[in-house]
Amino acid sequence: MSYNLLKGKRGVIFGALNEMSIAWKVAERAVEEGAVITLSNTPMAVRMGEITALGEKLNAEIIPADATSVEDLEKVFARSMEVLGGKIDFVLHSIGMSPNVRKKRPYDDLDYDMLSKTLDISAISFHKMIQVAKKMDAINEYGSILALSYVAAQRTLFGYNDMADAKALLESIARSFGYIYGREKNVRINTISQSPTMTTAGSGVKGMESLMDFANRMSPLGNANADECADYCIVMFSDLTRKVTMQNLYHDGGFSSMGMSLRAMTQYNKSFDEYRNEKGEICYG
Ligand SMILES: NC(=O)c1ccc[n+]([C@@H]2O[C@H](COP(=O)([O-])OP(=O)(O)OC[C@H]3O[C@@H](n4cnc5c(N)ncnc54)[C@H](O)[C@@H]3O)[C@@H](O)[C@H]2O)c1
Repeated sequence: MSYNLLKGKRGVIFGALNEMSIAWKVAERAVEEGAVITLSNTPMAVRMGEITALGEKLNAEIIPADATSVEDLEKVFARSMEVLGGKIDFVLHSIGMSPNVRKKRPYDDLDYDMLSKTLDISAISFHKMIQVAKKMDAINEYGSILALSYVAAQRTLFGYNDMADAKALLESIARSFGYIYGREKNVRINTISQSPTMTTAGSGVKGMESLMDFANRMSPLGNANADECADYCIVMFSDLTRKVTMQNLYHDGGFSSMGMSLRAMTQYNKSFDEYRNEKGEICYG
């Protein structure tokens, strides 16, 4: 259902790889809400081809860019303003990748070149994106810039590895730059901390299925899916949230405020083998 929340707005969406991508859903919802957009992803992702179908469906130009390259980012904003006919109102950073996770290097045996890449791709690219946009004066007053984060920035979750450090940096960049860009141009910058979601990036996380099941049992509202995340992004791009900035906004069904739920406790208890001791009492262990 459309509420015309983004009527007349121009947006740039980074990170739609395939139909499962959160950015894919956001792009679809943004256009449904009346926005015109451009899409960007790495030259390799663009060559893989799935994003072409999305571009055609949404009438959105695809601008290849490695988000770690300042030069590429300058091209994305210049071309976006040209094809969309003016300054940009919203930007989505939906980018994450860890070579250490890919190569299964555990957190106590990280490759440091790979760690630099993780941080550059998953966090510093957000800074580069915002710095480029600001220098080019590419964002309208009260424009909204969003990145997607995960609760591993605050709490340790087995298997999330160096992406936890990248997310902590990402959220910090939103605050530090949010202050400057807000003060000077009324541009707001936030992160949405999303539930575990089965996407290409998500499925790279060790034990993803168990993590999703655990989070689902722990959350009073259950996990938030990619479509629901897209809805939240739309609200954050809209004029309904003009005074929200420098925030990390949890979109996780309540997970981040929970300690232990009845559903998780029930499953936990089931996991113990039941046996009788020498007195005939039922024990678990
Ligand atoms: N899936 C989850 O469980 C989950 C949960 C919370 C937050 N997030 C975050 O959501 C965002 C989107 O991920 P997703 O789950 O939709 O997975 P996805 O794999 O569909 O998206 C990740 C995107 O990053 C792009 N990318 C990688 N390196 C890049 C580079 N150098 N330059 C430009 N783009 C590059 C990929 O091409 C891909 O499109 C990521 O920041 C991710 O960490 C995901």
